[in-house]
Amino acid sequence: MEVVIAPADQLAVLAAEAIDKLVRATPTAVVGLATGSSPLKVYDELVRRHTEEGLSFAQAKAFMLDEYVGIAEDHPERYRNVIEKEIASRVDFAPGAVQGPDGNAEDLVAACADYERKIVDAGGVDLQILGIGTDGHIAFNEPGSSLASRTRIKTLTAQTREDNARFFGDDLAQVPQHCLTQGLATIMSAKHLVLLASGKGKAEAVHQLVEGPVSAMWPATIMQMHPHATVLVDDAAASRLQLGDYYRQTFLSKPEWQGL
Ligand code: F6R
Repeated sequence: MEVVIAPADQLAVLAAEAIDKLVRATPTAVVGLATGSSPLKVYDELVRRHTEEGLSFAQAKAFMLDEYVGIAEDHPERYRNVIEKEIASRVDFAPGAVQGPDGNAEDLVAACADYERKIVDAGGVDLQILGIGTDGHIAFNEPGSSLASRTRIKTLTAQTREDNARFFGDDLAQVPQHCLTQGLATIMSAKHLVLLASGKGKAEAVHQLVEGPVSAMWPATIMQMHPHATVLVDDAAASRLQLGDYYRQTFLSKPEWQGL
């Protein structure tokens, strides 16, 4: 696991650079997209590279991590709509190339199995962007999630619903209770994981993710078992890391050609 501590703007450029390299080398690459605030600057940087530097997603595919269950199709906070607004509609993905779990399916269990199949049929995710919840969730794998889990329905914790109330006009009652989410094993199947976290509120979750014991109580800790995981954090999110100085020194002395 590589840990990079830098200002949030720089982290976004590093993540966008990794996606840029991937998609230029393999135009049919499969990118994993996250919602929430953490990847927004990455998406802005990808849009800039698309507009100014010819980065094209025309042959690429993308899969979302998760979706609320039972949210109105036209709700601005429906993750499918958020992804459309923040990235899909701003670059040149082909129609249908960006997919997400169907939280309004009549048969949610079948929709989850179908989603897993679609990811496999696409050849798997090459690079997965991730954020982390204050309770250590990745996607919506809340504490207690099976480390071997696949896409399924989950109940959001009170903490996550409170954290996300800001997207629903601070009205907790509007935040859905359930979601469909890629499981931890689904996420672990991606070839490269790139997690972004900023702000003091994420410091404990980042400490557990990088330095804690692997445990379902801090689901993101499963990333310690991934052969290619990158954790991009700002100073505030890194403030509880015991080996912060070492990670800083390692990044400073990293050969330029190595990339993430
Ligand atoms: C979103 C997702 C979540 C968020 C996490 C952090 O698709 O899967 O795990 O990444 O809740 O959210 P932000 O980035 O808003 O702090």
